[in-house]
Amino acid sequence: MAVDIQGLSDNARKTSINELNACLADAIALGLAVKQAHWNVKGRNFIAVHELLDDVRDNLNEQIDTFAERVQVLDGVAKGTAQIVAEGTTLEPYPTDLTKVEDHIKALSERMRVYGKKLREAIDAVSDAGDEGTADAFTAASRTADKDLWFMESHLE
Ligand SMILES: [Fe+2]
Repeated sequence: MAVDIQGLSDNARKTSINELNACLADAIALGLAVKQAHWNVKGRNFIAVHELLDDVRDNLNEQIDTFAERVQVLDGVAKGTAQIVAEGTTLEPYPTDLTKVEDHIKALSERMRVYGKKLREAIDAVSDAGDEGTADAFTAASRTADKDLWFMESHLE
């Protein structure tokens, strides 16, 4: 059922749906990478990093749900299938030959930076189009991404 949102232009709605689905693909891809690291990481600080990565994943799960549900509010179709995510993500494929804590943290941080940049660009795009509600969701996600980047990189020596 279409939701009529007073005062939101069609262009704003479409811009937001596109930006939300683009960030959804990256958040899902990043979430998978985080689990890949959580399972395979070894070495010093193992338990701290292993547990931290579950927190990072929980945060991403919340963002994923927020983005997908906001698409529904805007009367769009949330696109989160494996095939669409694999095609749509701008993140580099996550390597499967890493084990060391440092290597996993570096690989994840690189991707978290790309995701953080994407979120900031999305904030601007949807604000310019006039959808402050979606901008607010991206702003919250961006703040969390920045914090999780800090937490992860704190494990580098
Ligand atoms: Fe686990």
